[in-house]
Amino acid sequence: MCGIIGYIGNKKALPIILDGLRRMEYRGYDSAGIAVLERESVFSQKSVGQIGRLQEKLHDADTHGGTIGIGHTRWATHGGVTVENAHPHTDCTGAIWVVHNGIIENERELKDELQSLGHVFRSETDTETLPHLIEEMEKKYPEENLAGHVRRALLRIKGTYGIAVIHASHPDMLIAARNFSPLLLGIGTGEYFIASDASAILAYTDRVIYLDDGELAILTPNTREITNLQNVPSKKDTHTIEWSLEDAGKKEYPHFMLKEIFEEPAAIENSIRGRIIADTGQAKFGGLSEHGKVMQETKRILIVACGTAYFAGRVGEYLIEEYAGIPVEVDIASEFRYRKPVFRQGDVCLVISQSGETADTLAALREAKAKGIPVIGIVNVVGSTIARETDAGIYQHIGPEMGVASTKAFTSQVAILALLTVLLGRSREMSFDTGRRMLQEIEKIPEHMRHTLLQSTHIRHIAKKYQPYRNFLFLGRKYQMPVACEGALKLKEISYVHAEGYGAGELKHGSIAMIDKDFPSICIVLRDSMREKMISNIQEIKARNGPIIAIATEGDSEVASIADDVIFIPETLEALSPMISAVPLQLFAYHFGVLAGCDVDKPRNLAKSVTVE
Ligand code: G6P
Repeated sequence: MCGIIGYIGNKKALPIILDGLRRMEYRGYDSAGIAVLERESVFSQKSVGQIGRLQEKLHDADTHGGTIGIGHTRWATHGGVTVENAHPHTDCTGAIWVVHNGIIENERELKDELQSLGHVFRSETDTETLPHLIEEMEKKYPEENLAGHVRRALLRIKGTYGIAVIHASHPDMLIAARNFSPLLLGIGTGEYFIASDASAILAYTDRVIYLDDGELAILTPNTREITNLQNVPSKKDTHTIEWSLEDAGKKEYPHFMLKEIFEEPAAIENSIRGRIIADTGQAKFGGLSEHGKVMQETKRILIVACGTAYFAGRVGEYLIEEYAGIPVEVDIASEFRYRKPVFRQGDVCLVISQSGETADTLAALREAKAKGIPVIGIVNVVGSTIARETDAGIYQHIGPEMGVASTKAFTSQVAILALLTVLLGRSREMSFDTGRRMLQEIEKIPEHMRHTLLQSTHIRHIAKKYQPYRNFLFLGRKYQMPVACEGALKLKEISYVHAEGYGAGELKHGSIAMIDKDFPSICIVLRDSMREKMISNIQEIKARNGPIIAIATEGDSEVASIADDVIFIPETLEALSPMISAVPLQLFAYHFGVLAGCDVDKPRNLAKSVTVE
């Protein structure tokens, strides 16, 4: 949700900023803009649309030699998608320039105050209050420096921010600050970078410092000072980014989404590597350390997540309750944090987040911690805020996921939840044989996935056949219910076609009313405990002329004979099958979106990392 970048050093800032914005584009792509310091004045350019449009406007980028600058790629919150609302924003004098990711909640009151003092606003954004506030502090406290003015301005703000600030009269300084929006500091030689996301700066450095809430960084090309808003210095550790720039590229694939679907077998291998103890039929997670015991002794697990991670959590609910016998509740983070959940002694909260930055998941985590509940994370991005704030965690180790529609993160999260189930189950009733069997089957999942991926062309043909349809139902039961919901979410988000995911048993309670020859259903009907019930549901749909696409177990000719189209997948344990059945649904959504001419990596109105509530 918006990406910000800043550079101060010995190189031309503009190409570095544009390159960083391009790499962060998945965070928001409504509009983009830059500002570069050039001999005591500031050059700025903005454009609506994707970064390419801004780059076109900046075809003479080389002529801008400034070595300090900031940039922004926007996902609109306050104000429409216009050039005026694109960042950076400036004060009345045009000297102070700010990029901002987050929301200033007391914008109305600050704007009224500033306008009454004579400040003239040019945009509808909440962000514009910031440069004007800094300008006001400059007038009021002329004896202080820029850092002091930014600090004073931030103390007036309620809300969330990751910001970078430059000033025409301070051509040797870049200031950044963070509250609840991700921000890291990249360390180069004689240069510093500020970015919402490591991918923006990885081409230049892999050494980073993660800023914490309420911290401000004052940077010159050769010095850095990190303090809180009261100007007390903070001691910070330097971290090294684990993944490479190549991992964050598309390789030979036309889209990140397709690349990431094809990376799923390797992603599962990476997520389970070193975590299986075959001899004892056990699983282990180094990151849980002493909290492993807290997990094992828990009386109830509260899983909290958003989007795709929420559906992975729903699969986790079925797994843990069936195999470990521990009650599980799964909540959407934005509901959990506001609905006053009742906590009990012995509860453990498990938050799941690919990015580790989702604002609602982070807020839910903080709520659980404030109530004294241990919080464990399943997170992909190392060093992300959620990873740092949980009491203990399990990293997914799947490399960067750049496609806005989450794919490999989902199956990896399910794989980790399956291992966690073995860990929890084995310290309770689960037998050695069951534990060992589950682990053996988990190890076979990558091979089953590779086999399933071979059907990409077949799935593309089906997606082509169904192009004219504008409504789809996705149906499954038990373990396949969350997969059906995830399949519908994939189709909606990347092709803007109406799709609903349902537990097939609910069909008769409303949605069957919509079924007719123009309303296809994608039914996950595997050779498992739900097969007969699913077949009955399919018959009910057929009786109303609804077309059926079935995801079925290889060799199931009966299902093939009743469905209009079928995609076969290899057989595994029922509880592990979501990792396989999700793949054809992801491929279906991908091909459907591409055939419909949609930008599947950057679907309209969406952003990968949702850092506002
Ligand atoms: C956004 C993304 C989804 C993702 C969700 C949760 O909506 O578009 O793909 O599932 O956020 O993100 P997280 O990083 O917390 O898993």
